[in-house]
Amino acid sequence: MISARTSASVARCARAAAAPATKLRAAPLSTIAAARSFRPCVQSTSCRSPSIQPHRGLKTLDFGGTKETVWERADFPKDKLHKIFANDTLAVIGYGTQGYAQSLNLRDNGLRVIVGVRKGGHSWEAAKKDGWVEGETLFDIDEAAKRGTVIMYLLSDAGQKEGWATIKPHLTKGKTLYFSHGFSVIFHEDTGVIPPKDVDVVLAAPKGSGATVRSLFLEGRGINSSVAIYQDVSGQARERAFALGVAIGSGYVYETTFAKEVYSDLTGERGVLMGAIQGMFKAQYEVLRAKGHSPSEAFNETVEEATQSLYPLIGAKGMDWMYANCSTTARRGALDWAPEFHKATKPVFERLYASVANGDETRRSLVENSRPDYRERLDAELKEIADSEMWRAGVTVRGLRPENQ
Ligand SMILES: NC(=O)c1ccc[n+]([C@@H]2O[C@H](COP(=O)([O-])OP(=O)(O)OC[C@H]3O[C@@H](n4cnc5c(N)ncnc54)[C@H](OP(=O)(O)O)[C@@H]3O)[C@@H](O)[C@H]2O)c1
Repeated sequence: MISARTSASVARCARAAAAPATKLRAAPLSTIAAARSFRPCVQSTSCRSPSIQPHRGLKTLDFGGTKETVWERADFPKDKLHKIFANDTLAVIGYGTQGYAQSLNLRDNGLRVIVGVRKGGHSWEAAKKDGWVEGETLFDIDEAAKRGTVIMYLLSDAGQKEGWATIKPHLTKGKTLYFSHGFSVIFHEDTGVIPPKDVDVVLAAPKGSGATVRSLFLEGRGINSSVAIYQDVSGQARERAFALGVAIGSGYVYETTFAKEVYSDLTGERGVLMGAIQGMFKAQYEVLRAKGHSPSEAFNETVEEATQSLYPLIGAKGMDWMYANCSTTARRGALDWAPEFHKATKPVFERLYASVANGDETRRSLVENSRPDYRERLDAELKEIADSEMWRAGVTVRGLRPENQ
């Protein structure tokens, strides 16, 4: 009864949203530009445009009632970046998804960049294909760390623990150590990553995959990133950290701490970004299937409609807009059921955050990802998801999208 009602309602909701969806897809950049052209909120207390108080290139904006200071790409035009890093060699250590994206964006921004990876590995070949030249801009990790003045430590988090003995001797006075995650430093009791006292230590953490860091940059857009300063020995660490945040391709950067970055990041990926979403998709799909719905119907009502229609609209306009622009039936149902899901999941999020903050998640990740048979065990777990009926149905549904034919 509930599934049938919800299913029909959401379909109506999607139909109600179809016209604006088409419009949005036609003009994504202008939509983003419109969303970013904040107007000062001077006339009405009910005005919802965030107010801007420019201050030496910083902007203090109202995030739903809390004031935060952010930096934007416009605060660090290329000539300013070139001045800030005029005497620097940025050594990107690691060429996984972040190393690849950040090094190429930095290079395209005209900065002096070298890449350091282990010779003969997958990353070495990938870097060569992207135009990094052995002995000129591509080195083994030891040599790159020696040459770099800013060491951008972008090995996998488990790799950072293993590689620390190679990196540490090259962290001489005056250098900067950069991360894209607070993981190694905050959980140093488990990782052994304790930076020397006489180097700047900063972080810029893109809020998205490396593939998006690169593709948005190439489109003239930008990922959002957080920035944190762990040690400011030079007195310049703060400005250089924000500048690095922009130079790697961010649209806007906000300030955090190493601890808050790692706690929120681990919570997010285990929660709403991946863990919770897979759990929720699976639960709803199983219920629909058990009640006799076909795989096609169960997948469309669970995943396809979400990712193809509703989520892009929520991304562009917000859930408040979504609720205000769907059918009255869908709205009533969503308003009634949201508190139920909130009540059911909040204790799980509380438990998750506690497990992150006490280091259990880190220890588990380090132990599991350092096992000699790590790849085989991971592949078996991933295969289980890929072989599930829901995601096999997804392959068929995606193949039926007109643009994929
Ligand atoms: N992935 C994301 O979406 C994302 C987003 C924000 C921040 N971050 C953070 O960015 C950092 C890099 O993440 P990533 O996802 O780009 O990493 P990744 O793809 O897992 O990085 C793999 C890189 O690490 C190297 N590596 C792994 N273990 C190594 C070892 N023992 N010795 C030498 N090299 C080793 C690999 O080299 P080979 O090819 O030679 O194996 C490869 O270059 C992490 O701190 C991560 O938390 C990631």
